Amino acid sequence: MSIPGPRSNALMSRRNAVIPKGLSHATPIFVDRAEGSTVWDVDGNSYIDFAGGIGVQNLGHRPGFVIDAIQQQLNKYLHTSVNVMAYEPYVELAEHLVALTPGTFDKKVLFINSGAEAVENAVKIARAYTKRQAIVAFTYGFHGRTLLTMTLTGKAKPYRAGFGPMAPEIYHLPYPYPYRDPEGNRPDYGRVSADRLLELFRTEIPADQVAAVVVEPITGEGGFIVPPPDFLPRLRDITAEHGILLIADEIQTGFGRTGKLFASEHTGVVPDLMTIAKSLAAGMPLSAVIGRAEVMDAPQVGGLGGTYGGNPVALAAALAVVKAFEQDPEILAHAVEVGETIHERFRIFRQKYDIVGDARGLGPMAALELVESSESRTPSMKAASLVAQYAVEHGLILMRAGMESHVIRTLMPIVIGTDELQRGLDILDQALAYATEFSHAYTKAGR
Ligand SMILES: Cc1ncc(COP(=O)(O)O)c(C=O)c1O
Repeated sequence: MSIPGPRSNALMSRRNAVIPKGLSHATPIFVDRAEGSTVWDVDGNSYIDFAGGIGVQNLGHRPGFVIDAIQQQLNKYLHTSVNVMAYEPYVELAEHLVALTPGTFDKKVLFINSGAEAVENAVKIARAYTKRQAIVAFTYGFHGRTLLTMTLTGKAKPYRAGFGPMAPEIYHLPYPYPYRDPEGNRPDYGRVSADRLLELFRTEIPADQVAAVVVEPITGEGGFIVPPPDFLPRLRDITAEHGILLIADEIQTGFGRTGKLFASEHTGVVPDLMTIAKSLAAGMPLSAVIGRAEVMDAPQVGGLGGTYGGNPVALAAALAVVKAFEQDPEILAHAVEVGETIHERFRIFRQKYDIVGDARGLGPMAALELVESSESRTPSMKAASLVAQYAVEHGLILMRAGMESHVIRTLMPIVIGTDELQRGLDILDQALAYATEFSHAYTKAGR
């Protein structure tokens, strides 16, 4: 059967009539059901899922213990609004998160609905605490689609273009990009990259007006760029020295994505505030800001909240997720093995296919940067779209990332079985062979 099948095609026609174009879909198929690392479409085709709902299904689709926790909560209450009447799961999940996140100081937690809302609130809290306005973010960063978070985002198309004016008092620094920066091979590249903040203080905004630096420990939408190990520690030192808060956006890197619960743990950097979402609640909409108690307490009473923030059903799902990580160290141990398997194959792909310019990542957060040739390093969106298209037509769901949508990233459940992982990587191997052949044919044909 061809993919997309007739039912997906029919639904897509209905979709096109009533849903705006601006909402994109990485695949042309409509889902029917999902379980573990597999999804089935409405035409009965099955796929190995290397997208995991954009890093939301780290524990797989519909884990039994999450479904049970949701069902139990459904029998009690769905919503009171925490701003009207509070409930225990809100407090209980906060108690777990303050213990699980980096930093031994007193912490507090605010729950909201989406990743963007978490970053928005982290900025509000940082400004309230420091009584400063400026925020520094990075090129290649992605923090959401609201006015403030698109302004923080360092990728113009499609996230900022046409939506201006942007929010004021946001400054950007280049994110270290070892593969693309001519300086990328310097042994002190991480430190040099962080020191650009000092230059920003001299040229654009004095340090004593900067409330916070917002950074992804590894870029997500930006293409899974892994900064040198000394980058974040140096950023931590500079921010601490100037009374600037460090906000780690762990929305995509959290909950085992890199083989540790949080990516910050790889470098030992302790941020003042952390934003989390995605795999926190296994598919229920929930996000959080976690941080130093005195910082979190800075906003005035009534300044934080929202009708739905910390929905009880989402909290029940998240409690089941955090308890799973607490009680079963095998989850992270398996994630590390998944990462090793991927990186081993990715090293082979890099040798085998000239269109694979870079293979990188940390644990199961891995990526292949596709180029026209390893010599030219010209980003190849064409190759990446051929890979993704071949993959979905052969039973594998893949996501792209990167400035030119030319990076293939892996966001499969970290609990994926070894066989399924190998089968998915085999399809990716064939997809790269296909893209190599066709992108060369395409290049020769003069585009
Ligand atoms: C690092 C990071 N921050 C923020 C967001 C925004 O999250 P949401 O789409 O839930 O608003 C994302 C989403 O991909 C993300 O990866």
